[in-house]
Amino acid sequence: MLPHNTYGRRCGRKLKPFKQDLLETLLPRIQINVGEDGISGAFDVENYKGCFLEIGFGSGEHLALQAINHPNILMVGCEPFINGVANLLEHIHKDHLTNVRIYPGNALHLLEAVPDGCFDHIFLLFPDPWPKKAHHKRRFVQHATLTLLARKLSTEGKLLIATDHADYFEWILEHASASKDLVLLNDDPNTWTDFPPLWTQTRFQEKAVRAGRVSRFLWFKRGRDMFPESYVRNKIS
Ligand SMILES: C[S@@+](CC[C@H](N)C(=O)[O-])C[C@H]1O[C@@H](n2cnc3c(N)ncnc32)[C@H](O)[C@@H]1O
Repeated sequence: MLPHNTYGRRCGRKLKPFKQDLLETLLPRIQINVGEDGISGAFDVENYKGCFLEIGFGSGEHLALQAINHPNILMVGCEPFINGVANLLEHIHKDHLTNVRIYPGNALHLLEAVPDGCFDHIFLLFPDPWPKKAHHKRRFVQHATLTLLARKLSTEGKLLIATDHADYFEWILEHASASKDLVLLNDDPNTWTDFPPLWTQTRFQEKAVRAGRVSRFLWFKRGRDMFPESYVRNKIS
């Protein structure tokens, strides 16, 4: 079963007029909508060489870095926290980014609506750890979520999950190792603290560093069982 209530608040401090203005003028031009009829709005993936997804982009610093470095890739970000969305809009405005699209809501809804094999990269960076046992069902990473993420990866696609929370890290490893849908690419524990090649510390990683917590990074690809028959045949022959 997919998790419910994976996020906390949707609004924080009152926005400054400039950010409020960006929400009213820029967001509608780059917003993806998900409705009963599926995806609508600015999901113009056909105009790009590929598509990356960041789930829960927070303040958007990592998403903006990816967008700057991959101008031919459509960068899709999902984030229900409206202050975070406004922050990303400011990055887009300042850096004149044209390849970012935003779904200001629950990434699970977007994932269910997009075609399978859609994303060349999926980033899930420092998801809320929901540390109390009674809240574990709110964790984004669950068996059903991993299957859904695997389905949405392209055949060569990669999923990156980062966390600074030791218990959530174990949880992610356990769930992923029980899954046939994903394969862990960096299975050497010595590599788990290596930063990804194109990287900026996110706000939550900065907090972790200040608190002396170690961040770990796990890379996955789709498991063989998830590949379409034709792909598996080509690889074998
Ligand atoms: C702990 S914060 C990390 C933010 C950012 N990735 C960082 O590293 O600074 C987790 C973020 O995930 C968002 N989030 C939680 N569940 C989500 C979901 N189902 N879809 C999209 N975003 C979600 C929350 O709103 C929050 O901003």
